[in-house]
Parts: sequence; structure tokens; C-alpha cells
Amino acid sequence: MENIDAVFKSIDEHQDEFIDLLRESVAIRSVSADPARRGDCIRMSEWARDQLRTLGAETSFWDLGKQQLQSGEELPLPPAVFGVYGRDKSKKTLLIYGHLDVQPAEKEDGWNTDPFELTEIDGKLFGRGSTDDKGPVIAWIAVLKVLKNLGIELPINIKFVLECMEESSSEGLEKGLEDNIDKISDVTYSCISDNYWLGRNKPCLTYGLRGICYYFVEISCARQDLHSGINGGSVPEALNDLMWIMSQLVTVDGQILIPGIAELVAPLTKDEDDLYDKIDFCVDTFKQETGSHGLISDSKKNLLMNRWRYPSLSLHGVEGAFSQPGAKTVIPAKVIGKFSLRIIPHMTPEATDKLVTSYLDSLWAKRKSPNTFKITSGHGGMPWVADFRDANFSAGSRAIERVYGMTPDFTREGGSIPVTLTIQDLTKSPVMLLPIGASDDMAHSQNEKINRENFVKGMKVLAAYLFELAV
Ligand code: BES
Ligand code: MN
Ligand code: MN
Repeated sequence: MENIDAVFKSIDEHQDEFIDLLRESVAIRSVSADPARRGDCIRMSEWARDQLRTLGAETSFWDLGKQQLQSGEELPLPPAVFGVYGRDKSKKTLLIYGHLDVQPAEKEDGWNTDPFELTEIDGKLFGRGSTDDKGPVIAWIAVLKVLKNLGIELPINIKFVLECMEESSSEGLEKGLEDNIDKISDVTYSCISDNYWLGRNKPCLTYGLRGICYYFVEISCARQDLHSGINGGSVPEALNDLMWIMSQLVTVDGQILIPGIAELVAPLTKDEDDLYDKIDFCVDTFKQETGSHGLISDSKKNLLMNRWRYPSLSLHGVEGAFSQPGAKTVIPAKVIGKFSLRIIPHMTPEATDKLVTSYLDSLWAKRKSPNTFKITSGHGGMPWVADFRDANFSAGSRAIERVYGMTPDFTREGGSIPVTLTIQDLTKSPVMLLPIGASDDMAHSQNEKINRENFVKGMKVLAAYLFELAV
């Protein structure tokens, strides 16, 4: 650890170069959900591979096969990037996972700057992917560059698994990991930096994620769209059926109306209940950052529990429904309602699918509509909860103390990273989430950013963590 101050100094001195690297990666429009951007996702994988190669890592691509689109069309999946940096048998091995694909973004969505041109304003680096998850991945690369330039020997071996499909449920990656299990079986610890602090000022380490199950409800009432003047009153309408169903999924205070879901929730123990008391979280700040008009609870504990340890159901949209401005007098022929559940221990996607399907089927039977009705489920993700009292977390905690002078909160998250549990199971290694971005970074939203300070101090935490892990 005697070198760590030199590492910190070098990170400070070279921070603009690392911001330029982030700028380069943000400029690649690697939107995994957009078939037209698949080439950019592949280019993004190539860019990451070249970065690791320049460092001197052994790199390879894992071919993840093809994606079957709903239209029947097939698209190549971007390859996962595998990198090995150091092969010293006497040292531990850390697996680092991250993703370099991003959510869609258009200036017209309400961005103040071009989403794909990293722009610094008042110490905030705005750009799509700046915090989710290009910034954290670049932070890792920056740390390795600094160690290399200073001629400091790596305290542990590192293996990288980087992908460009995470925002589309990490399609193909689970199989990619399984196919290459022999290459990751020596992993001692895993670290994922792909979430955010609970607030703006205090770092945290994260030991839980919710999983996700996504559903499509398709209702069709006619061969093609109809005129509501000619046919209104004579035809049972698909959108009318769909709204009726979608309004019976969740109450105004967030209670899920699907029978059986509540029974799957892991019981709350006294020990778990006590953990929430110690956490630094301000309900008012949260409300203000979210910009929401209300909250489902004013209690810190209830709110955190609702985000972390209880399931939630969200409605996302209706495909085929008229959504442009103006007043079109149409009866849509076919509509697809979309909703998802965030799942938690002990829920599984299989058990959730069953409950959702039988509830929707029973609603449909009650509706007595002549229309056609079909439920399909999309790709999901498993929940993950780990023990935060292990050596991985204590190394992370000491690293944060060194950089920030405070001990982190141990948190869970409401979001999902589909391969977390897969990585833990396949490597049989403990996984830790080490976020570097702040709660107001606005991942997935307009004006996503990472603070320059979080980015730079984040690199220092990651560097210190490498040395602490070796202890
Ligand atoms: N970085 C997020 C995961 C996340 C979100 C962690 C919020 C903590 C809090 C990740 O990129 C993400 O957006 N995941 C998707 C997964 C889905 C597409 C399967 C999510 O949670 O919606
Ligand atoms: Mn992410
Ligand atoms: Mn994301």
C-alpha cells in the first residue's frame, strides 16, 4: 500500500485524459435495444477490447450467437469482451463485470446537450452512459493505465467480462459465461460497479438487487384500425379491454393485486429490520431528486423496504395505441400492454409467471370479450442478495474509508443486473457491487451525468480496493 499515494496523485494529474476516454466511448451510440444501432454495439465491444489490449491484457471475444427479433428477423449479438490481466498463480483473481451498451436517448427527449457528446457543466459530465455504465468501466481501465504507467505491479490478477447487451436483459451472456466456465473458475472475488449511491454525499457498498419479470398482453379486435364514428358502439374494442385489465394490476399505493405474490416474499427478520435504522437516507431529498409529486410512504424505512425488499409492479406502455399529439378518432385494431414486476427473494421468474398468467386468464374469462388475448413474458432477471460481512466487502469498505474518510452504508438496490447471480454461482465467488456515481445521476433519464469528482474519486476507490483485496 506504500504506493497508493503516488497512484492517487497520478489519477488526479491524468483525470482529463480519462474524461477524454469517457468522451470517446459516449460518442459510440451503443443502444442495445435499437436494432439499427447493433453495429455501434459491436463497435463498442471492439473499442473495449482494443483498450484492454493496449494495456497489455490478453483479450478475446465470446461469440454470443444471434438475437431473434419479434418480427422474426435475426440480428447478431455483440460479442462479450473477455480480458485477462495477470496470471500469477500466487495471487488472488478478481472478476470485473461491466456493460458498455446504453439506453436510447434523443436530444428531443428533453436533453439540454447532445446525449452522445460528453459535455461538462459545473463539474458534471453529461452524456448517455456517463454513469450507466461507461463511466465506471472507464474508471477501471484508467486505474490499470495508471498502475502500468507508474510501473506498479498488480496486487491481484484481473479478469474482465464486458458486454453490450445489458440494457436488453444481457441476452446471450449467461450462456457465454457457462460456455467459458473453465476461464473463470479460478476467480476469488467479483466486483460490479453498475449502480449508484443512495444519496449525493455518502458512498455505499451494495449487497442486493431485485430481479425482473416483463410481460406483454396482446389484444386484438379487428383486422385493421377502425373509424370510431362508423364502428363506435358496434364493436368491442381492444384498447378498452386492455385498459380494464391494466387497471387491475396495482393499487394507487403500490399494492400488487395479483393473488399469491405477497406469499412469496421472504419474511422480515428482526436483524434485517434493524439494518434500515442505521442507513443515511433523507426522504425529502429523495422526493426532490426524483421530482415526483408524491411518495407512497413518508417513512424512511418503508420507502427503502419498498425499493429493496418488496416486489413492485410498473406499467410501461401500450404499443399500437394512438400516442401522437392531436385527436385521432381511431379504434386501434391491436394493442400490446407492457408491464413488469421487480422480484425479490424468494420469488422466481417461474413462480411469478404462473401467478401472473393465471390472474390475467381469470380476468379475461370474467371480461367475456370476443377479442383475442395473448400473454407473453420477456427475458427476466433473478434477484440477488449476498452477505455483506465478507472479505470482499471489508476490502471495499477500507478502500472507501481511505479515499472518503468515512465508512460506507451497506445498501440494496431496486434495479436489476441480470448476470449478477450467474457470476456468483458460476465462479463460486462472492460478488460485491461498488457504485461510484451519485443518486442524482439520472441513469436512463434525460441529462444523465456523472460528477467529475465521483468519477475521479471512484478511480481512487477502485485502485485502493485492488490493494486491499490482496491483503
Ligand atoms: N445499472 C442498472 C441496474 C441498476 C438500476 C442498479 C438501478 C441499481 C439501481 C442496469 O443498467 C439496468 O438498467 N438494468 C435493467 C435490467 C433490465 C433491462 C433487465 C433494469 O434494472 O431495468
Ligand atoms: Mn447499468
Ligand atoms: Mn441501465
